[in-house]
Amino acid sequence: MATLDPLQETTQANVSADMINFGIGQPSFDILPTEIMRKAAEHRLSQHDPSYLNYGFEQGDGRLRDSLAQFLTSGYGLPVSAAQLLLTVGASQAIDLICNNFTQPGDVIFVEEPTFFLILGLFRDHDLEIVSIPLDEGGINIDILEEKLKQHRPKFLYTIPTFQNPTSINLSTERRQKLVALSQQHDFYIVADEVYQLLNYTVEPPSSFAAYLDSDQVLSIGSFSKILAPGLRLGWIQTSPTLMARILQKGLLASGGGFNHFTSGIVRSVIELGWQVEYLDHLKQIFSKRLETLNAALQQHLPSTVDFNKPEGGYFFWLQLPDGIDGKRLAETAASYKVGFQPGENFSNRGELSNYIRLSFAFYGEHDLKEGAQRLARALADYK
Ligand SMILES: Cc1ncc(COP(=O)(O)O)c(C=O)c1O
Repeated sequence: MATLDPLQETTQANVSADMINFGIGQPSFDILPTEIMRKAAEHRLSQHDPSYLNYGFEQGDGRLRDSLAQFLTSGYGLPVSAAQLLLTVGASQAIDLICNNFTQPGDVIFVEEPTFFLILGLFRDHDLEIVSIPLDEGGINIDILEEKLKQHRPKFLYTIPTFQNPTSINLSTERRQKLVALSQQHDFYIVADEVYQLLNYTVEPPSSFAAYLDSDQVLSIGSFSKILAPGLRLGWIQTSPTLMARILQKGLLASGGGFNHFTSGIVRSVIELGWQVEYLDHLKQIFSKRLETLNAALQQHLPSTVDFNKPEGGYFFWLQLPDGIDGKRLAETAASYKVGFQPGENFSNRGELSNYIRLSFAFYGEHDLKEGAQRLARALADYK
């Protein structure tokens, strides 16, 4: 279980044992694939192939890219090739690399509002001017986007199109097509962070943005963090030959020889031995149960003035609180009831969304999810 060890503090998961913190968006320790990784490492190291201990290839291990391409072809339901994939140190580093390649300090980028709060920090590191475009129930609001395109020339639009963090909304197919058309017309890239694309529980989501690579405007990002384990720090960019060539020019890749080469060898074994498909199925069953449990507990314990939709995939519930209740202040009351969450304001680049909160169901088992929902209800009743 998580502890408050000063040597182990992280931004993502600081929590004392008696707290139920729905703010943590990562899998619980008990479901991480330790046995699969042990067997995969043993398999890889028994192949007597020292190349995984040398520098790797700029684009990432070709064998892993090949097996990942096959896995994605089946998972996405569209053809994916090894040549389209570049291996990265997770989605976060993929996005950082894209900022390095495609932006200069002061450039404008568009993000959704709300958007994944930790990525906002990454964009600020690059001194980008962040312009927020609100979401509605169909994803990013295209009318407002078109208005903003009259005022700005963004380098790219960052979207989390599927089971969005934090809202769990899916961008409709129609809007995906419209976005691609707008990106061609106004010459901006679409950086589609699709880390939840394969974590669907009840519906098939719209096609990945990988379906639109021919436009030469799309960079689709994926990660093993959500389908295997975040600690591997392994993800990918999928893009067209022109954009790939541009990313590959970087000195960092030439000098470093690709990212995370040794781990790539182990993950190659995970996929080739069929364990990635098996583990993802297992994970989806667990998360789908957790989602149902938290949904039922929230329905049962929260007042009807709290508004939310049941997610169909991903990790998150996005709750709209009754008028006049501020998420950050509620978090203070909630702390005394030993329950936590992410206040909505964190997901706004403009300091808005103060009456929303985000809950993740990934980090706790069913007992804690039920208990956490009751504590949250008590904190809400006690809000002043
Ligand atoms: C939308 C989104 N992008 C990126 C990340 C981070 O991914 P990675 O661990 O691959 O860097 C997360 C993790 O919570 C996320 O929700």
